[in-house]
Amino acid sequence: MTEFPTTMDDRQRATPYASALEAQEARDTVNLMVPGHGATPSGLSQELSRFCGERALAMDIPPLIDGIDVGPASAFVQATRLAAEAWGARRTWFLTNGASQANRMAALALAGLHRGDTVVAQRSAHSSFTDGVLLGDLLPRFVFPSIDEERGINHGVDPRALDEALTRAASDDDVIAAVYVISPSYFGAVADVAALAEVAHRHGAPLVVDGAWGSHFGFHPALPESPARLGADITVSSTHKLGGSLTQSAMLHLGDGPFAAALEPMLDRAYMLTQSTSASALLLGSLDVARHALVHGGELIGETLAVVEDLRGALRDDGRYTIISDGFSAFPDIVAHDPLRVSIDVSSTGLSGHRMRDVLSADYGVYLEISTAQAVVAFIGPGKRPDLSRFSRALFEIADRADRAPTPEVFDFPALPQPVPMLMRPRSAYFSRHEIVSASEAVGRISADSLAAYPPGIPNVIPGEAITAETVAFLQTVAASPIGYVRGALDASLSRFRVVTETT
Ligand SMILES: Cc1ncc(COP(=O)(O)O)c(C=O)c1O
Repeated sequence: MTEFPTTMDDRQRATPYASALEAQEARDTVNLMVPGHGATPSGLSQELSRFCGERALAMDIPPLIDGIDVGPASAFVQATRLAAEAWGARRTWFLTNGASQANRMAALALAGLHRGDTVVAQRSAHSSFTDGVLLGDLLPRFVFPSIDEERGINHGVDPRALDEALTRAASDDDVIAAVYVISPSYFGAVADVAALAEVAHRHGAPLVVDGAWGSHFGFHPALPESPARLGADITVSSTHKLGGSLTQSAMLHLGDGPFAAALEPMLDRAYMLTQSTSASALLLGSLDVARHALVHGGELIGETLAVVEDLRGALRDDGRYTIISDGFSAFPDIVAHDPLRVSIDVSSTGLSGHRMRDVLSADYGVYLEISTAQAVVAFIGPGKRPDLSRFSRALFEIADRADRAPTPEVFDFPALPQPVPMLMRPRSAYFSRHEIVSASEAVGRISADSLAAYPPGIPNVIPGEAITAETVAFLQTVAASPIGYVRGALDASLSRFRVVTETT
């Protein structure tokens, strides 16, 4: 764990890009360029100014302004260097289309390496990574995360499972382009990134860690370490999630490992392919500010950690709710958990997690990030102190009421269908001629779509894979449940599927 700010250079005290935007805002200028609001609140822009504030308008300036982002030593470049230093990376890219962009960039860069075309990926890969696999014409081979069958949630990949998957792939003569894993999970389960990196590197492959939910890692001794410092070759970071920047802003960190020199130019190319030529200055500036706040926010983060631990303590003392992370030691892949996530099994109340989440927001004004059949997960931003006693009081009140009139709503999810053979490359299946057929006709055909039943959100079919009767039945059962749905489905009941047209 790197200590901030004592071992960090004074450089980390600066916010070069954000400060350059502020200086521009303070200047008396006439903007005869885009955006059309001219950075002023007058005329047609009055409404917009009322909506988001005069200052936001004044800093919403286009790219390529001298003194801000022009040249190799610009304020913008300096800001990305400070971010790289803060997260322990060799280089960092600032992104304006979320970690989704970072995942697509990662896949495209891997394809550009020409090290092979097989990516051994955690089956619960985020759709943006599988989109990148499609774009880069990579061939996914899957390694399954550990699954909490009782609660229908998936965690991470165990290094031994990865080693076996890579050994199996090598024995099939696959040339591995990379390994992709997710850590932390939605529920805050943290995988052994150092061990996963060691395994991937031993098999000659770079490791991509989708750390979308862990952008705050490494900024307090009680938080898990930043994946870049643990050997991840690429870290995907959804900085806006828990890193404190504005929604949609994100980062990609390139580690300083054995593949860095080859990956760097490929990531540059992938960035050009995916970043807007009019990236929002406000989003980019928020990344610079968020980095500064995290680096110097140790004390505030410590206070958050303390109040969140108090919340967990109150729930444990009450006894009617189970803290899911208390049982993480049963899963071999989990080596730590994100203490800023409070994952709560609510099934003893008789309410589903989804219903609980609805009641909390409608009746108590408490909004939670995630719910599943049995659980809800609260996310507490680092350095923030929301009114957690209002949350616990609401939980206790709901439990009191539920004790009097329990409503059994917990749905028993069927077991995940068996993995199916991939009959076509995902990209070929996606771009091939396709047709829409009924569910019964789809059995035995090749899917052109990606379909993932929530919970637990593991893709059950990806383009190129065969559709089996078991998969159809599973997807329809989840879709018909009061709390389930299938992402990517053509209709809510899964009556139709998009399949590759057969040629004779
Ligand atoms: C594991 C994972 N990776 C990537 C993303 C994409 O992040 P963003 O919403 O910043 O594009 C998400 C989004 O929730 C995610 O859960």
